[in-house]
Amino acid sequence: MRIEEATQVDEELVAAFAALVPQLSRSAPAPGREALEAIVESSATSLLVARDDVGRIVGSLTLAIFRIPTGVRAWIEDVVVDEGARGGGIGAALVGAAIERAERAGSRTVDLTSRPDREAANRLYVRLGFAPRTTNVYRYTSGA
Ligand SMILES: CC(C)(COP(=O)(O)OP(=O)(O)OC[C@H]1O[C@@H](n2cnc3c(N)ncnc32)[C@H](O)[C@@H]1OP(=O)(O)O)[C@@H](O)C(=O)NCCC(=O)NCCS
Repeated sequence: MRIEEATQVDEELVAAFAALVPQLSRSAPAPGREALEAIVESSATSLLVARDDVGRIVGSLTLAIFRIPTGVRAWIEDVVVDEGARGGGIGAALVGAAIERAERAGSRTVDLTSRPDREAANRLYVRLGFAPRTTNVYRYTSGA
């Protein structure tokens, strides 16, 4: 298995996300080529993908790194590993690679959120050193 950053969008990447996104969200549509290109081309976001031993894309996460007045911040979003490939350390490898990149970019912290019912994900993050943070998480939903 290897972790790499997607630097261009091709049919394989679009197809991989068509398979992965439904395993992450019941409501979000899979991103098309343009949406993936926007992520790949932005200097603020890195699309990391995991490939299995035969080169198939079996997982992904998106790392956002940006500077704000109080420092450099990093966020991990949309972590997902294909159901058939789970339990083999791919999720841990993806998150580990993201932490490494965030540190290299000068971010002293890496944030993420995970719903409590995502048990495997919550266990994984704690195992990798993430600690719950006491803060209120708010969301404004347009048109709600
Ligand atoms: C969370 C997720 C990314 C973890 O990926 P993964 O490649 O299975 O991660 P790892 O193998 O590194 O660790 C998974 C944990 O599940 C355990 N596990 C073992 N077999 C498993 C299986 N068949 N299926 C799922 N988890 C399994 C692992 O032992 C490990 O447990 P531990 O943390 O207590 O040691 C994956 O389960 C997933 O995509 N879930 C659905 C989407 C999701 O919840 N994303 C997180 C959003 S915040």
